[in-house]
Amino acid sequence: MSSTNKSNKDVSAHESVGSHSVPVEAIKRKNLERLIARFAELSEDGPGVTRLAYSHLERQAHQVFADEMAALGLVVKVDAAGNSIAELPATESLLKAGLGTGSHLDSVPSGGRFDGIAGVCAAIETARVAIASAPVRRRPWRFVAFAAEEGARFGQACSGSRMVAGLTRTPDLARLEDKNGVSMAQAMSEVGLNPDAVSEARWEADDWLAFIELHIEQGNVLESHDIAIGVVDTISGSSRLLIELSGVASHTGGTPMHLRRDALAAAAECVLLCEKIANDEEHHGTRITVGRLDVDPGSITTIPGHVALTVDVRDFDHQRQRDTTRQLVQAFEAVVGRRGVGMRVSILGDTSPVVLPTSITNVIARSAAQNGLNYRVMASGASHDAQQITRTTSTGMIFVPSWNGLSHVPQEYTSFDDLARGTEVLISALLMLDGCDNLSQTSSAESAQ
Ligand code: HGY
Ligand code: MN
Ligand code: MN
Repeated sequence: MSSTNKSNKDVSAHESVGSHSVPVEAIKRKNLERLIARFAELSEDGPGVTRLAYSHLERQAHQVFADEMAALGLVVKVDAAGNSIAELPATESLLKAGLGTGSHLDSVPSGGRFDGIAGVCAAIETARVAIASAPVRRRPWRFVAFAAEEGARFGQACSGSRMVAGLTRTPDLARLEDKNGVSMAQAMSEVGLNPDAVSEARWEADDWLAFIELHIEQGNVLESHDIAIGVVDTISGSSRLLIELSGVASHTGGTPMHLRRDALAAAAECVLLCEKIANDEEHHGTRITVGRLDVDPGSITTIPGHVALTVDVRDFDHQRQRDTTRQLVQAFEAVVGRRGVGMRVSILGDTSPVVLPTSITNVIARSAAQNGLNYRVMASGASHDAQQITRTTSTGMIFVPSWNGLSHVPQEYTSFDDLARGTEVLISALLMLDGCDNLSQTSSAESAQ
């Protein structure tokens, strides 16, 4: 797991951030390693990290975030969606519209130590550096840990940030269920949240100037091109389906082939159709995945009578994303019709792709350059809280490299050098934005360079 030097400048031991110089290197790496390790302890047993949406473990991670912020003298407020937010006040001239940074604390089953957590740790480090170096801050800086970003449990991704953006409301919470039939509303109540109050979690656009999320790339572009920083300009959309196929369970010995209604054989055809359609000429850039396949009764001598599978359709073209989803369902209908198998289709989640504003991507690119780091403007194949927050305020994303492009697996890894460099760019970008009266200045600042 090497982290080659991606910059023509080592991270200096001392670097002025604002009006004071602070041991930037010691602060970032030492604390980033401590923080990543601290969050990684909060997991179910088994390989990797399992800390699901609206689980007690996720709430324990939010408590760790609150403890770390309290150690900096900041108070965390938990909103009705379970998001945790701490605010560092301005040091002068109270411009109401604040700056924010953060990411999510939940994980997928058997996931990694860095997905979401990297951005939360960068936010904690940013708070620490901002307090230690006390640069002039003309705006409130807010540090956010979002709840329930992963769709792994309930299907819909980014639930905490969608509630902030007003895209997921109380009625949705009873409809979204995990594979054990527990609704999001029930899960929220069980961890002490109030699903009936999520409208109170809405952010007001006037309260914000901009938000920047640091995240691991979850792909191999940066590492394979030896680039330190990804400046995200587009975030993929995703449509997620639950397909339930009902055939006839029966004896594998006594039932001749021509009398079968094998739900798993029908599912197998559907899985290969997903791959075939994603790879055809009209779908360059579309990604379709069947991530979960539950077979009942799952016995070696019984023909599967019921199969549930999830389909995740990702695209950067919102029209094609929806068209592909419809095309898949039609193709599945032909398969099950021919096989005499029943099918029920449920929509688990649907998020449009977004383009992030150049007013923020320009600032991030300039911050990378000012820190002597090479960068690439790039798309994100994964979805993120930033995708929802951009509906409320101007939002950007900073990517740091993923080792071997791996993510959502225990082997997920980002070097602490890379994470420290990303945090450096984050701090610089926030300081740049803090110095702007409004976002139109970020492009003029561009010309002033
Ligand atoms: O599924 C995703 O793209 C993200 O990890 N939530
Ligand atoms: Mn993820
Ligand atoms: Mn993530």
